[in-house]
Amino acid sequence: MRWPGLIEAYKEFLPVNNETPKLTLNEGNTPLIHLQNLSKEWGVELYVKVEGANPTGSFKDRGMVMAVAKAVEEGSKTVICASTGNTSAAAAAYAARAGINCIVVIPEGKIAMGKLAQAMMYGAEIISIEGNFDQALKMVRDISEVEPITLVNSVNPFRLEGQKTAAFEVCDQLGSAPEILAIPVGNAGNISAYWKGFKEYNSKKETGLPRMFGFEAEGAAALVHNRVFENPETIATAIRIGNPASWDLAVNAVKESNGQFDEVTDDEIVAAYKKLASTEGVFAEPASCASIAGVYKSLQNGKIAKGTKIVAVLTGNGLKDPDTAIQSSLVKPVVLPNDEKAVAEHIRGVVGH
Ligand code: F0G
Repeated sequence: MRWPGLIEAYKEFLPVNNETPKLTLNEGNTPLIHLQNLSKEWGVELYVKVEGANPTGSFKDRGMVMAVAKAVEEGSKTVICASTGNTSAAAAAYAARAGINCIVVIPEGKIAMGKLAQAMMYGAEIISIEGNFDQALKMVRDISEVEPITLVNSVNPFRLEGQKTAAFEVCDQLGSAPEILAIPVGNAGNISAYWKGFKEYNSKKETGLPRMFGFEAEGAAALVHNRVFENPETIATAIRIGNPASWDLAVNAVKESNGQFDEVTDDEIVAAYKKLASTEGVFAEPASCASIAGVYKSLQNGKIAKGTKIVAVLTGNGLKDPDTAIQSSLVKPVVLPNDEKAVAEHIRGVVGH
């Protein structure tokens, strides 16, 4: 059967009715991959939920299909968001699909190239401010209060409704909830959405509850330190956020689930980013790899025990950020003359015979 997309697949769990447009880019139903090499090396049972397989390459499609469908249902003609890149790509795509306008406000110079390309191609009005995400979010919140424009950042409750469906899929794919759900945290919407999803599925289907482990970048670790970071900095630009909007919901998710917040350094993120791609063939963007870096750190410091069944969420596709990939990679193309002999000789050197 052809996968119908989230609204159709999960309508009994979502705030939809006959008036809700059947908007979809056939998002959701993403792979849960068992990391066999890393599981063996680290002595755990580790899976990744590959959200980069969504239509615009990130988990944001789950929330955005709901937020844009509800905006259309309410008669809105324009949506607006602040974004570190992925939200703007998803908003622009679903707005294009629904035939409405999209305005995105992004931090100048701090969004990955692939994400900017997407917003441009999907036809959004793009405003790049000389400020950070937190400042952009404040701006669009204020503007959407006075203008006839719908805010589609994750403070829009329909966003979390859509995003909670990833937790349903994890339970169905694994047969039950994992022991630990490891997830990158930026604006803190996704960790809140997953926890809501796990709780709802558990109360309907007794799928169990995981402990929620949220990982922030060290230079943007507001929840770990319980203070706003005025000038957040990290190589993982997607989570370069110093004042998460879903602060209380995320703290509650960690508390209720007996989980934890922790921080990972840029070096740890990049190490995980490269390791994941080179040992498992899974290429996720740097922010996504905060979850893998966090799992590794937690195994080192004993916060996660050997043998634990873990799902790490890979929130976005590695292709979103080709610059970081190329800059952090030790492998560079070897340039040779257009000469078969020279190429063959080089290959013999590489394969060692
Ligand atoms: N990973 C990626 C790839 C993201 O793009 C984001 C957030 C997160 C993790 C964090 O999720 O905010 O729900 O805690 N990106 C937003 C954006 C802020 O504008 O695309 P969160």
